[in-house]
Amino acid sequence: MNKQIEEIVGKTQKVNRLDEQGCTSEVSQIITDKGCYLLKSSFEGKYREWLMNEGQVLEKLNHNNQIPVPKYYGFIEERDSSHLIMSFEDGITLTSALNNTMDITEKNSLIRSFGHLLNCLHETQTIESLNHKNDWLTEQLRKAEFYVKSDQTEGSWKQLQKLMLNKPLPVQQVMIHGDCTTDNVLVVNGEVRLFIDVAGMTIGDPRYDESLAIRSFMGNEVYINAFYEGYKRYKVSKEEFQYFDKGLYEFF
Ligand SMILES: Nc1ncnc2c1ncn2[C@@H]1O[C@H](COP(=O)(O)OP(=O)(O)OP(=O)(O)O)[C@@H](O)[C@H]1O
Ligand SMILES: [Mg+2]
Repeated sequence: MNKQIEEIVGKTQKVNRLDEQGCTSEVSQIITDKGCYLLKSSFEGKYREWLMNEGQVLEKLNHNNQIPVPKYYGFIEERDSSHLIMSFEDGITLTSALNNTMDITEKNSLIRSFGHLLNCLHETQTIESLNHKNDWLTEQLRKAEFYVKSDQTEGSWKQLQKLMLNKPLPVQQVMIHGDCTTDNVLVVNGEVRLFIDVAGMTIGDPRYDESLAIRSFMGNEVYINAFYEGYKRYKVSKEEFQYFDKGLYEFF
């Protein structure tokens, strides 16, 4: 194990590469004489930058007990890779939890608790250190433009122009996750308890989270209803859902 990593986590006893790997990183569980950690490593420009952002968010949240996320332990940059160390959390992603059960009542209860957790995040007091200068959507469109120009996205220039010209009317900005799919929340004891993959957590448009949260339930009215039993703030319109999920999300 890398020396700098061991300075943080202690002497390695075992490294387990996780079965569930992310798309932009490699994740392993590290067991040491001090405890159990999650090592998340990235190797490419854009993904290393996201990983660094994730580290900064987790570090700022270390002393916040309103938003449930893993605990931050350290971030290390090497020549060709970046590594984030956080607490290893016992839990499985909501995607896996939903795949693991055929029981509709259990599925509904999981989805309802996802809605509830997101509702809590959107209602929580905003954290000024996670704020940014410009309007969130303007900033996302600017990033998208950069990714198009540097050929780092599947989204097209034409699609982006459409998004720039058709911004939805603004709503109150709140704490958002920024990539709130069923892959990025963990289930513990039958409840969605924790946010992971928090590089995009900031003050922004709650409709983006809401749209990504329900994207895998679209077309299933029962699941959508279960989500909104937990998420009580506001229902995105079909147009808003299209804008955020089919539109903006394509660029990230
Ligand atoms: N703190 C943690 N404790 C336990 N398991 C974790 C933790 N963080 C992540 N995992 C596991 O690792 C997997 C990948 O993590 P994550 O979603 O952060 O990376 P990613 O998907 O590569 O990121 P991205 O969405 O940017 O591609 C998760 O699906 C989850 O199973
Ligand atoms: Mg992820």
